[in-house]
Amino acid sequence: MDVLVVDHPLARTRLTAMRDARTDSAAFRAALHELTTMLVYEATRGADVEQYPIETPVEPTTGFRVANPPLLVPVLRAGLGMSDAALALLPESSMGFVGLARDEETFEPRAYLESLPADLTGLPVIVLDPMLATGGSLEHCVRLLVDRGCTDVTVICVLAAPEGLARLRGSGLPMRVVTASIDARLNDKAFIVPGLGDAGDRQFGGM
Ligand code: PRP
Repeated sequence: MDVLVVDHPLARTRLTAMRDARTDSAAFRAALHELTTMLVYEATRGADVEQYPIETPVEPTTGFRVANPPLLVPVLRAGLGMSDAALALLPESSMGFVGLARDEETFEPRAYLESLPADLTGLPVIVLDPMLATGGSLEHCVRLLVDRGCTDVTVICVLAAPEGLARLRGSGLPMRVVTASIDARLNDKAFIVPGLGDAGDRQFGGM
């Protein structure tokens, strides 16, 4: 499983704002939006493009478009804060939605929404979720995609724990991961350390 860590200086400053406990919800959402732009930009660097003829105001030249725009799948709630930035960079993309809530005792995900095309054969998918902690949520989500025929999955997250990466690797599911940081570890509540807290609560408030 390929893992790309995007440690661009501008990504580091947005991640710093997200980690800082003094950052309020509005500033947290703004930093997440900007960081997502950078992560999607790097994640799509190898995307296939098609050429087509265009005319500038001066003379004809070659234009380019993304050949097979990926399906974007935010994992609710926290992944919602990444969708606008991803869709702005990939305006021809469609979107699917997966709703998962992690049980805070067993740490296993409980699914409450699956809104995905029935057949994903031949369609690349980008999954958006800020946090890869135990990996249970993303393993569940990627399995839903693979069960629908997807063979090209990119998971974009802000933070990844080594334990979560190991779980995804061990699942054998085909995917690559793009993240802004691999943090140190999980604590006994399965929170990423040093982390940034709960990305859903920090964007939208506690439930
Ligand atoms: C958080 C986070 C991930 C998941 C990560 O969501 O946004 O989806 O937990 O944990 P895992 O890797 O151990 O599965 P949460 O369940 O808190 O829901 P929320 O997005 O609605 O806040």
